[in-house]
Amino acid sequence: MTVDAVTAGRRAVCQRPLYPSEKMTPPSTSTPARRPSLRDALSTPDRKQRYVSALFQRIAHRYDLITVLLSYGRDRRWKAELVDLANVRPGERAVDLACGTGDLAYGLAARGARVAGLDFAPEMTRLARSKARRSPLDPSTALRVDGERSRTVDSRRSLGASSVTFVVGDMLKLPLPDASVTLVTAGYGLRNAAVLDTALAEIYRVLAPGGRMLALDFNQPANAVVRAVYLAYLTIVGSVVGLALHRDADTYRYIPASLARYPGAADVAARMAALGFVDTEWRPLLGGLMAINMGRKAP
Ligand SMILES: C[S@@+](CC[C@H](N)C(=O)[O-])C[C@H]1O[C@@H](n2cnc3c(N)ncnc32)[C@H](O)[C@@H]1O
Repeated sequence: MTVDAVTAGRRAVCQRPLYPSEKMTPPSTSTPARRPSLRDALSTPDRKQRYVSALFQRIAHRYDLITVLLSYGRDRRWKAELVDLANVRPGERAVDLACGTGDLAYGLAARGARVAGLDFAPEMTRLARSKARRSPLDPSTALRVDGERSRTVDSRRSLGASSVTFVVGDMLKLPLPDASVTLVTAGYGLRNAAVLDTALAEIYRVLAPGGRMLALDFNQPANAVVRAVYLAYLTIVGSVVGLALHRDADTYRYIPASLARYPGAADVAARMAALGFVDTEWRPLLGGLMAINMGRKAP
């Protein structure tokens, strides 16, 4: 991605208000403003988009801690596996969608890609940038895994300051020209998209012929009983952690609520194929509770 493309992209970014306009009405002194229920907040694409951007802006400062807690420390391993599977070619142009605090973007950059991390929560991109400033080793240690499957990377050698850029932008309206990148990644991004097919179509549009997409996310277990237990478990844990950290049970109940509305890796693979992706497949993680979707734009 050229600096021009990113700069043009920044200009084209449609920054949405962080909070829904109805919530910006000052509350009356007697009745405090009520947050919409999760069901309401996710009931239409517009509402979901506003809810999700406000949510991640609000929890950004706790995001890394929460991710470690809720995944029992496995998140790094899954991300490292995605980076391995990406088979990065040195110098290739990559974009990491819904980049959050930048783990995948830094992981790809450490393998030699020129990466733009994109997220619509400005606080996430600010935190992502700050990781590079703190210590050149920090970003890659976020993905360092002691297992034999994941290569340990030395960020001092391969992570040049110019190889990662973070921009505020919407993955449903990517500020990138057609066929401008060879690799698109997303960590827990597709499930958060207000319209999944629009996100996939945008990925397809910006990929050059032969370019790859890899997306890590929660999965919908095929077995109905396992699915129900999994969602119940995530709801209980999410409520407890949300109450403990934010005094708001809904904060992390969003995860099972969004997962219940997400079709899962097999369906995502089918949607990708319908859009024209080839070699679509998905790799189950944690017994199929998580998954990495993969595919290529036809050469
Ligand atoms: C669960 S976090 C994942 C962060 C990071 N990719 C990771 O793997 O740790 C989801 C991120 O998606 C971002 N997001 C959700 N919808 C988005 C959209 N339409 N455009 C850009 N970012 C979006 C949120 O702001 C949030 O940072």
